Amino acid sequence: MLRFETAGESHGECLVATLTGLPAGVPISLESVNRELWRRQQGYGRGGRMKIETDRAEIVAGVRHSRTIGAPIAVLIRNRDWQNWTEILPVEDLDGAEDKRRPVTRPRPGHADLAGSIKYNFHDARYILERASARETTARVAIGALAKAFLKAFGIEVLSHVIAVGPVRLERAASWEELVTLSLRNEVLLGCVDAETEARMKAVVDEAYRTGDTVGGVFEVVAHGVPVGLGSHIAWDTRLDGRLAQAIVSIQAVKGVEIGYAAEGAASFGSKVQDTIHYDRENRRFTRGANRAGGLEGGMSNGQDIVVRGMLKPISTLRRPLESVDLETREPALAAYERSDVCVVPAAGVIGEAMVALVLAQAFLEKFGGDSLVETRRNYENYLEQVKSY
Ligand SMILES: Cc1cc2nc3c(=O)[nH]c(=O)nc-3n(C[C@H](O)[C@H](O)[C@H](O)COP(=O)(O)O)c2cc1C
Repeated sequence: MLRFETAGESHGECLVATLTGLPAGVPISLESVNRELWRRQQGYGRGGRMKIETDRAEIVAGVRHSRTIGAPIAVLIRNRDWQNWTEILPVEDLDGAEDKRRPVTRPRPGHADLAGSIKYNFHDARYILERASARETTARVAIGALAKAFLKAFGIEVLSHVIAVGPVRLERAASWEELVTLSLRNEVLLGCVDAETEARMKAVVDEAYRTGDTVGGVFEVVAHGVPVGLGSHIAWDTRLDGRLAQAIVSIQAVKGVEIGYAAEGAASFGSKVQDTIHYDRENRRFTRGANRAGGLEGGMSNGQDIVVRGMLKPISTLRRPLESVDLETREPALAAYERSDVCVVPAAGVIGEAMVALVLAQAFLEKFGGDSLVETRRNYENYLEQVKSY
């Protein structure tokens, strides 16, 4: 079973993640992990924080001589901003620390601030927002890169693109080749495959900058080369669609998930929605009329590309703060303002890729097992033979 966990706070020393259960022998390149971290930091609309941080992963356990050794992998990413917070958020409560605190007593609507302060019994939302922050996803992206390296050994790749920013939407499907080209770009604007649509997306972000507002949008994650039969119809918690949906909605600010053309399907007649089944006798394989189901039927991968979308609400922290209440005085007050992003849809897509890669790697290892890559490959190839001769 592949398990992972993250720890770390937005202005703490570092972010940490562990990933347990990858077989031994998976080739790992620190450069590709760092490339994913870089991709997470890009996009037009990011705030000042991303200018401070240039994330670099340090793998401190589980990888030796560029390959996994089967032991838990631990990754650490230092927060460069920590040097400005050592006295504000010290581990030990030294003399005078009280005066150096930076309390947040005016909870921000749309954040964990209020519910978290009540639940954990703090009268200062600082500790809550430190952990609720999407800075945590840096750790997810780092181990997601390891899951990607594992999947790549079996020809499975996971990429994303942005299909909407505010009201501007990409009105056509993107090809896999376009996503590959996009992922290789060294300058990221809004992560859209269509230049004209991307320019209109930028105009929306510019308007948000001008007016002190923020915008959300939709990203699409595509997993390519996935074999038929990951996940299962037999129980609610084995369904791959449900597991992917949880993984996507667990990303900060993602409020909706769509598998395939779910929204369009809900507004159409059934005859227009299902992907017809055909058989190619020459190549002895089943083919499908379309991929509106997003590669998932009955909670299982069906061999087509898996397509999952995440819908992001606009960023909650506004330069023109919303109404709130002071936790101490209970008087009306404007919400606290912390340096903030205006649009994060491309970055959320990269985080979505990491989450999808982790869930697919989990499902893959559940089905094929193996303590070494050689063993997993043998099991996988056996299965492929079975599918071929079906
Ligand atoms: C990549 C990324 C960056 C984010 N940056 C900010 C930010 O700068 N300011 C902000 O208010 N929210 C930001 N968010 C969203 C908040 O983390 C999120 O809205 C908040 O933690 C509450 O969680 P919820 O929206 O999932 O309910 C970001 C989200 C993502 C995915």
